[in-house]
Amino acid sequence: MANESMRENWATGAAGWVANQALFDAVYAPVTAAILAEAAPAAGQRVLDVGCGTGTLLEQSAAAGAEVVGVDIAEEMAAAARRRAPEATVLVADAQTADLLAEAPGAPFDRVVSRFGVMFFEDPAAAFANLRRAAAPGARLVFACWRSEAENPVFSHGTSVLADRLDPKPEPADPDAPGPTAFADPERPASVLAAAGWGAVSVDAFDFMCDYGIGGSDGVEERLTMILDGRTGRLAREQLVQRLGPEGWESAVDEVRAELIRRLVDGAVRFPVALWLVTATNPA
Ligand SMILES: C[S@@+](CC[C@H](N)C(=O)[O-])C[C@H]1O[C@@H](n2cnc3c(N)ncnc32)[C@H](O)[C@@H]1O
Repeated sequence: MANESMRENWATGAAGWVANQALFDAVYAPVTAAILAEAAPAAGQRVLDVGCGTGTLLEQSAAAGAEVVGVDIAEEMAAAARRRAPEATVLVADAQTADLLAEAPGAPFDRVVSRFGVMFFEDPAAAFANLRRAAAPGARLVFACWRSEAENPVFSHGTSVLADRLDPKPEPADPDAPGPTAFADPERPASVLAAAGWGAVSVDAFDFMCDYGIGGSDGVEERLTMILDGRTGRLAREQLVQRLGPEGWESAVDEVRAELIRRLVDGAVRFPVALWLVTATNPA
């Protein structure tokens, strides 16, 4: 079955995203706004959110009057999206292979959007061709994806304290393998979309400061929670509680906390974020 390892990955990874959905929304608000500004969802349009997670774009597109459909490979994410956007149809399906118009009958989609949901396909060209089959002629595709880990300290600051203690150490990621930075090289989304038949492809840098200092907080506990609920955090807890005992684990957590405090920017956890904002059109 396509994308089986990512299905398993997100079945376990979903809980952290669901638990922290308000935090994710707060820190990623600038990219959400940029996607919505490009997609401009409106009444009379049908919008598909790919890898919709807990449904941020569904909620906001529905608020703009559009009819909204989400697709996510993780049941727990889809359930959270349905709670958040009850007017949405949310499919639990692999966006690479699902017959989206059969599973969510209606007009072809006028907009296909995604925030960080399209970098996990085993065969990205097949996935974007599948999405295009569900899109209306002239439909607009808008998504945001990560540039490299080197340009995005959010992948390492604090987290590296735990990653350094893992045994075995995580292998360096294959740059083309499915994962958050699969489209870091801008040639990749450009060539994948062209191969899938999308036209007028544009890949533009989108940079902002990700700010965990929400509501006057310094953001340390917020960022720590997200690290501990993330993949490295979960793996480290599993290994270190066993290897070092609960106190050893707590002292590793304290080191993560100290590292975040050491790197505060103007009194709060803040990271520069480097993304690609990708747009394309389904040729008429
Ligand atoms: C990084 S999360 C982003 C979630 C959401 N878009 C957001 O920004 O909060 C990636 C999402 O893509 C989903 N996903 C991964 N592979 C998928 C696939 N083949 N088909 C549909 N969804 C997929 C995951 O389950 C997860 O919810």
